[in-house]
Amino acid sequence: MQKRERDQLVRDAVKHVIPHFASWEMIDRQPKVFVRGEGCYLFDIDGNRYLDTFASLLTTICGHHQREVDQAIRDQLDQLEFFPNYVDTFTVPLVHLARKLAQITPGELSATFFVNSGSEANETALKMARQYHLERGERQRWKVFFRRYSYHGTTLGGSSVTGLQWFREYFEPLLPGCIASYSTRCQLCELGLRHPDCELACLQLMEKQMEWEGPETISALIMDPIPGSNIGFPVPPDGYLQGVRSLCDKFGILLIFDEVQTGFGKTGKMFACEHWGVTPDILCIGKGFTGGYIPLGATVTTEKVYSVFRRPGHELRSGSTYGGHTLACAATLANIEVIERNRLPERAGELGKVLRAKLEALRETHRLVGQVSGIGLLQALFLNVDPGRKVGSFIRDFCWQNGLILRNNGDILVFAPALIITEAELEQIVGTLDRALSAAEKQLAT
Ligand SMILES: Cc1ncc(COP(=O)(O)O)c(C=O)c1O
Repeated sequence: MQKRERDQLVRDAVKHVIPHFASWEMIDRQPKVFVRGEGCYLFDIDGNRYLDTFASLLTTICGHHQREVDQAIRDQLDQLEFFPNYVDTFTVPLVHLARKLAQITPGELSATFFVNSGSEANETALKMARQYHLERGERQRWKVFFRRYSYHGTTLGGSSVTGLQWFREYFEPLLPGCIASYSTRCQLCELGLRHPDCELACLQLMEKQMEWEGPETISALIMDPIPGSNIGFPVPPDGYLQGVRSLCDKFGILLIFDEVQTGFGKTGKMFACEHWGVTPDILCIGKGFTGGYIPLGATVTTEKVYSVFRRPGHELRSGSTYGGHTLACAATLANIEVIERNRLPERAGELGKVLRAKLEALRETHRLVGQVSGIGLLQALFLNVDPGRKVGSFIRDFCWQNGLILRNNGDILVFAPALIITEAELEQIVGTLDRALSAAEKQLAT
C-alpha cells in the first residue's frame, strides 16, 4: 500500500470509526490497523508481525486462516449464504450445529437458541428463565442473582447482571430485580477469609441473601464458572460449583453458566464446568465458539426447559434476524471439528501447565511479579505495584513494540493464546515479557 493511501486510512479510522471500549490515550499514540492473519500471528498495515497472546479477544482459538474453516465457508457460499431461522424455517448447517452442540455440551443440554454475540446469549438466557417460570405459573419469579466482579455483556440486560462498576455506572438505573451476590475471588476474598477455613462462606451468604429476597421471586442465577480476564481468571474452590447447583435446585432457580470466555477448550476441557462435573440449566457461549470467523453466539438449554416452549401459544418470545446465520453456522461447525479432531482441549490443558510454570518462574527474577492465577491456557499474572504507576500499561506497550500483542487490565496481565500455539511460541511470549519486566523495573528505579 502506498504511504499516502496508508496515512489516509489511518486518518479515516480515527475520524469515522467509533471503536468498542475505545482508549483515546492509546489511539492518540498510534492506532493499529491489521491486514492479515496466519496461525497465531497478525500483520499490520506497516508489515509488522505480532504474536497474539490473547487470540483476537479470546476468539481465534484455532488460529487465523484455518484451512478447513475457510473451505467450509466457501462450500456453504456455493449453496446458500443466508436464510433466517425464523418462525418455522431452518437451514442445514444450523441443524447440524445444534445437533453437534447437543453432543458436546455436558449433561442434559440439548436445545439451542442461536444469537449473534455473547451478550445476546446472556440476554436471551435471562429472558428464557423469566418466561420459563411464567409459563409454569410462577410469574412472580422475575429477579436474577449475579456475582460481583463478573462480566456478562454490554447490553442493558448484560450490564444489569455485570458485577463491575465501570460497565454499570453510566447507565444506571439498570434493570430492577438484579441482585449482586458474592464472588469467588479467593486470592482477594471480599470477606477477608481463606479457603478452606472459610467453609465457603460466600455460598452460605448467597443462600441467606436468596432467603431474604424470597426464593419464590428468583428466576435465575447467572454466573461464570471461572470469572474472566477482567479479574484474572480466579478458579473457584472445589465444592463451590456443586454447592451453587444444590442451592438452585433447592429453591427452583435456574442456573445459567456464562461460558462465553471459558468455553471450547481453553481451560483444558471443552467447557469449564466439566472440571467439577456440574451442568447448568442454561449454557451461554460465544467468542471461541466460531473461531473468530463470523459472529455467532448461543443459548443452550435442556429438554426440561425447552419442552415448556415447544407448545403452540407458549413459544419463547425472542428472536433476531441474523441469529443462527447460515454461513456462521457452517464456519462454527468446521471450527468445532478442528477443535475435536486435534484434541485441542487436552492440548490447552498440557500447554497451560507449561505457560503457568514459565510465568511463575519469572517471580524468581522479577520482584514485580505477584501471583499467577488461571487454568489451562487462561492465565493471569498480577503485578506487585502501586496502581498509580501504570506498570501494566508500560509492559503492554513494550510488548506491542516488540512484536507481541499483550492484554492488560490495569496491573493484571492476561494470557489466552490460540489453542494451536506451540511451546516455542510460549517461550517467545515469556521471553518478551521477561525483557518487558526488566525494562519496567529499570524505569521504576529512575
Ligand atoms: C464472560 C463473558 N460474557 C459475555 C461476554 C459478551 O460477549 P460479546 O462481547 O460477544 O457480546 C463476554 C465478552 O467479553 C465475556 O467475556
